[in-house]
Amino acid sequence: MKQRLRRHIVLIGMMGAGKTAVGTELARRLHVSFTDSDAAIESAAAMSISEIFARDGETFFRDREAEVIARLLERPPGVISTGGGAWMQERNREAIRDHALSVWLNCDLETLWHRVRMRSTRPLLQTADPKGTLQRLLEERNPVYATADLDFPARPGSVEKTTARLIEVL
Ligand code: S3P
Repeated sequence: MKQRLRRHIVLIGMMGAGKTAVGTELARRLHVSFTDSDAAIESAAAMSISEIFARDGETFFRDREAEVIARLLERPPGVISTGGGAWMQERNREAIRDHALSVWLNCDLETLWHRVRMRSTRPLLQTADPKGTLQRLLEERNPVYATADLDFPARPGSVEKTTARLIEVL
């Protein structure tokens, strides 16, 4: 049976922090719906995130991202994972604060790099020095991520264990 959450749980944090994996497991354990905002953008646009960036640019992507997040927040409460840049936009922070508990999956550079380096699909990491880019983004974003309701250390470990730890502190 589906449980009722009082408000959404929105996972934020860098690419590779485990938002989609932990979000899926968290929703399963809480018996609520799970939505990944990037997947919702891709299905609405019938294009991959990389194709949207390449064809229409980042500003266009950020506008679609904000629309999708606003729309998902209007649904009955569930777990929502967001793309790594979503929390950087004030409009998204405001909408999420109004409707959700925001949880920062706080992860160190080496763990993030270990997880993202094999997957070359992230448009922001298509640079000559992807690890350096990841580090720069992490340093720039961490102070903003830190304004989430909950700072949750997503250190290496299985998705199951991480999700169990998260449920304990929710
Ligand atoms: C981005 C992260 C990606 C995706 C897009 C931009 C970012 O999502 O939204 O490539 O700005 O960090 P993940 O965090 O799920 O990789």
